Amino acid sequence: MKRIINEMKLRLIARGENESVCRAIISAFVAELNPTVEELCDIRCAVSEAVTNCVVHAYPDRGGERRDYIYISVRLYDTREVSVEISDRGVGIENVELARQPSYTTGEASERCGMGFLVMESFTDAMTVKSKPGRGTTVLLKKILKP
Ligand SMILES: Nc1ncnc2c1ncn2[C@@H]1O[C@H](COP(=O)(O)OP(=O)(O)OP(=O)(O)O)[C@@H](O)[C@H]1O
Ligand SMILES: [Mg+2]
Repeated sequence: MKRIINEMKLRLIARGENESVCRAIISAFVAELNPTVEELCDIRCAVSEAVTNCVVHAYPDRGGERRDYIYISVRLYDTREVSVEISDRGVGIENVELARQPSYTTGEASERCGMGFLVMESFTDAMTVKSKPGRGTTVLLKKILKP
């Protein structure tokens, strides 16, 4: 049975400025497991994509108001597993399977390339996405660090 050795919960307003805040906090939190530079980069990249999605897609036309929150929960396990859950209470995703397809985007074609979920999936060991239209989205990322 794997055991939790540390746990953290964060709630941040969905603003672009908080992407770097998330990356920095999660890096500091994961440091006790002595990840390699590559592992740390993978986690930071995957988390960035999930947080960016909350900022860009979850609360359209609202521009980072109070109550437009991103909820982040990080756990470290004695098996060297890191789990990061990133949630919002925004518009949700109608068809998750479709949204996960590479190049699928509902964003501005000039700014988005529809690669976020692919990056999250390839930089982690597991990714699950749960979403309900009108209720919000939760992305769960798992990364197992080398012994
Ligand atoms: N938190 C979210 N809330 C609502 N919709 C989302 C959320 N995350 C993703 N989506 C939907 O899933 C689509 C695909 O997301 P993905 O991150 O793969 O690409 P993107 O954000 O459009 O582009 P990129 O990440 O390459 O800039 C988005 O265009 C959006 O429609
Ligand atoms: Mg994205």
